[in-house]
Amino acid sequence: MNKNILVTGGLGYIGSHTCVELISAGYTPIILDDLSNCKESVHARIQTITQKNNIPFVRGDVCNRNLLDNIFSEYKPLAVMHFAGSKAVGESIQKPLLYYRNNLETTLSLLETMQNYNVKSFIFSSSATVYGEDNTPPLVEDMKTGSVTNPYGRTKYMIEEILKDLHIAEKDWSITILRYFNPVGADASAMIGEDPNGVPNNLMPYIAKVASGELSELKIFGNDYNTADGTGIRDYIHVTDLAKGHVAALEKKGEESGLHIYNLGTGNGLSVMEVLKSYQETSGVTIPYIITGRRDGDLAASYACADKARQELGWSAKKNIHDMTLDSWNWIKSGNS
Ligand code: NAD
Ligand code: UD1
Repeated sequence: MNKNILVTGGLGYIGSHTCVELISAGYTPIILDDLSNCKESVHARIQTITQKNNIPFVRGDVCNRNLLDNIFSEYKPLAVMHFAGSKAVGESIQKPLLYYRNNLETTLSLLETMQNYNVKSFIFSSSATVYGEDNTPPLVEDMKTGSVTNPYGRTKYMIEEILKDLHIAEKDWSITILRYFNPVGADASAMIGEDPNGVPNNLMPYIAKVASGELSELKIFGNDYNTADGTGIRDYIHVTDLAKGHVAALEKKGEESGLHIYNLGTGNGLSVMEVLKSYQETSGVTIPYIITGRRDGDLAASYACADKARQELGWSAKKNIHDMTLDSWNWIKSGNS
């Protein structure tokens, strides 16, 4: 039986780990990626990790409707997981049109093509950023969303609204919105991981580059928040746990019509200082840091209520901060990035 799943952005950080978990669960990801933020070598590595050598990869833009037609005709996917998009918050403020085009147009092109081919199972990569500034953690799926502070976050919020409207109009769709908290770490093989272009914006890849000597020191963005040690609190989740959450969503909800929304987080918040301490312990490297001013748009604390995914998907995150920092460090040391 056909177990093809179209995975857009499947050579990127989260998409590649999800392809590994999909293959392990018996699915065939059809990977569509334009290589704008990843390396083609990730395709071979996914195949090496899973010992499968016939995983289709199509290089191209999700906005290319002719290409989508060809893929849907040839592979007849059962469902679509949509990871492709642009994700850097700072860049989205500088280049809002690029972000609206790439994030909205990829999604609309996919949804219209799915309509044409009667494929109605869609899993979307959203973000905890949609909860914005108005909610107090733990963040729960039915809280009000939309008070987002940058174009990147606004694209995620807008796509969620588009998906809600589609669900109102066409009840036979199965739409699953997954709101990621802070994905970190790498596959245990150290063959795939996070490989950001230039200087990283996010905490864990930044710490990793200081630990490896590539950057000189970590700048901690504020230690005067109303938290136990004054530094910001986030819900860090191992990327392999996150990837397994997608397989659970596909298996539990992929054929059930309706609009389903889940947080993918651990439910536990950790401070910047706690992450730094864990990284030092697992790597054995002393990581120099300085305290600087707060970063614009940062919240004191953001962490999930993880109950709904556990109850309805039978999924919960298993890995702890030690696993996350260890796999990040092994990935950096491997030289595979
Ligand atoms: P990533 O940049 O590593 O992966 C995205 C992939 O999509 C890249 O391989 C890129 O080459 C590809 N791509 C981009 N535009 C494309 C297009 N038009 N056509 C074809 N391919 C295209 O990012 P990621 O961290 O793996 O994130 C995946 C998704 O999850 C994104 O939608 C992102 O916004 C969302 N997300 C990420 C995080 C995070 O912290 N990493 C948090 C919340 C949500
Ligand atoms: C950031 C984005 C968010 C996006 C998410 C995942 C902003 C304002 N928010 O979230 O929209 O969904 O990444 O890509 O950019 N920190 C430091 N020094 C650093 C980097 C981070 O102290 O060099 C601190 C931050 O202040 C924060 C914590 O570490 O308290 C985590 O930061 P980060 O990894 O960037 O994630 P978010 O802020 O949650």
